[in-house]
Amino acid sequence: MTSLQFPDGFLWGAATAAYQIEGAVAEDGRGPSIWDTFSHTPGKVGRGDTGDIACDHYHRWRDDFGLLQDLGMGSYRFSVAWSRVLPEGTGAVNQAGLDHYERQVDDLLERGIVPMLTLYHWDLPQALQETGGWANRDTAQHFADYSRIVHERLGDRIPYWLTLNEPYCSAFVAYVEGRHAPGIVDRGLAVQSLHHLLLGHGLAVEGLRADGVTGQVGITCNLTSPHPASDRPEDVAAWKRLDLYENRMFLDPLFRGEYPEDARAYWAYDTDFSFVRDGDLATISTPIDYFGVNYYERHLVEADPADPERGWRRVPDPEPTAVGIGVHPEGLQEMLERVHTEYTPLPIVVTETGIALHDYVDPSGEVHDDERVAFYDGHIRAAHRAIENGVPLIGFFPWSLMDNFEWAWGYGFRFGMYYVDYATQARIPKRSAQWIAQVTRANGLPAAPVPAPLAPPLPAEAP
Ligand code: FCB
Repeated sequence: MTSLQFPDGFLWGAATAAYQIEGAVAEDGRGPSIWDTFSHTPGKVGRGDTGDIACDHYHRWRDDFGLLQDLGMGSYRFSVAWSRVLPEGTGAVNQAGLDHYERQVDDLLERGIVPMLTLYHWDLPQALQETGGWANRDTAQHFADYSRIVHERLGDRIPYWLTLNEPYCSAFVAYVEGRHAPGIVDRGLAVQSLHHLLLGHGLAVEGLRADGVTGQVGITCNLTSPHPASDRPEDVAAWKRLDLYENRMFLDPLFRGEYPEDARAYWAYDTDFSFVRDGDLATISTPIDYFGVNYYERHLVEADPADPERGWRRVPDPEPTAVGIGVHPEGLQEMLERVHTEYTPLPIVVTETGIALHDYVDPSGEVHDDERVAFYDGHIRAAHRAIENGVPLIGFFPWSLMDNFEWAWGYGFRFGMYYVDYATQARIPKRSAQWIAQVTRANGLPAAPVPAPLAPPLPAEAP
C-alpha cells in the first residue's frame, strides 16, 4: 500500500560524475585534469587512490545503464569530462570525446531514461590550471566556450543541463581547506575562484541561450541547514557567518545578483573583491530554468573565540557517520523550504543526497545496507513534506548509482546503491537498490517509515 505519493512525472534518478567512475584516463585522446594531477600527488588522497581505473565505466557503461533500468530510474545525472572534449581545455576539439558521450546519451534515450548532464563536476583540464585555473578570469570564458561545444553536439537531446556541481567545493574545499584539487590554500584565491566559477556559469547560460537551447538549464549547489547552538548572541553571530560561507555566498549572487552584505567583512582579511567587474553579477544571476541542490549536512554552529577570523565552528555531531557528519533528514526539508521562500520560485531538483557506509558483502553474497535504506526513507519523506508545503520539487537523485572514487577519500567510503568489487568490477545490488526500485516503480512510499536499524535485543537468558 503506497500512501505517500509523489507528483506524476516526478524524476527519480541516480547521480554519478565522470572522474569518479570512468577510469580510462588516457584513452581516446582525453587530456589530464586537475584530479589526475592531485590524486597522483603523494599524500593528497587516502591510500594513494586515483581515478585511473575507478569503476571502469568508460568501458562498462552499457551494463551500468542496465542497472538504471533495474532500479526503475526515469533519469540519470552524469557529467561530461571537459578534458575528453577539449584535452587542453580550449582550442582543438577531440571528436572522440564527444562521440563517446553522444553514444551514451542516445543509449539512455533508447532506454527511456532522461539524461541530466552536468558540464563541470570538478575535473578542470590541467592545461587550464597551468594558466591559473579558476583564479584566472579567462577560465570562466573557456568554460562557456566548452559548454557551447557540448551543446552543439548534444543540444537536441538533453532535457536537463547543469553548469556546475557544487561551487562551494571547487572554491572553498579546494582553496580554503586545500583538500580538493588543485589543493592550494589561499583564502583570497578561494573567493576569486568562486567568483570566476559563478561567472563561468552565467556566461555558459547566456551562451546556451544564444545557441537556442531547448532543454532546461540550471546549476547545482550543495547547501546546508545550519542552526545556532544556543541563543547566545555570539553563537547566533557565528551561525550567520557560517551560513554566509556555506549558503549565501552562492544563493545571493545567483538569485539576487549581489554578494551578501556581510561578505566583504567576512573576507576582509583575504580579499577586497577587486576581481568583480561591472556587469559580472548581472551575468551570474542571468535567469535559469531550475535549481539543483545537493544536501548532506544539518549542523549546529557555535562561536569559536580561538579563530577570530572565521569565528565559527560546527558542533561535532553526536552520532556521526563514517565521514563524520550526522543523519538529519529534517535539514533537507528546511533547506528546500528556505530556498523556495527566500530565493526562488523555480522548480528544484535534489541532484544528490546520500550516506557513506563501510558496506561489505556477506557470506551469502548480499550487502545489507539497512542504514542506507533508513537514510533514503527519511530523506524522501522529508522531500515529500517539502512538496506538501509548496516547494516545487520535481526530482530526487540519490548519490550514487554505485560505489566510486570519492575524491580525497578515495575508495575508502562507499555511497552506492550498487556495491562495486574493485578487483573484479562486479556490481552487486545492495538492499538499498532493491528498496529504491520499489519506490521508483510506486512513485511513492508506504505509510510507515522504515525504522532506523538497531541490533536485535539480546534475549534475557540463554535459550
Ligand atoms: C558531493 C559530490 C559528489 C560526491 C558526494 C559524496 O559533494 O558532488 O561527487 O562525492 O559529495
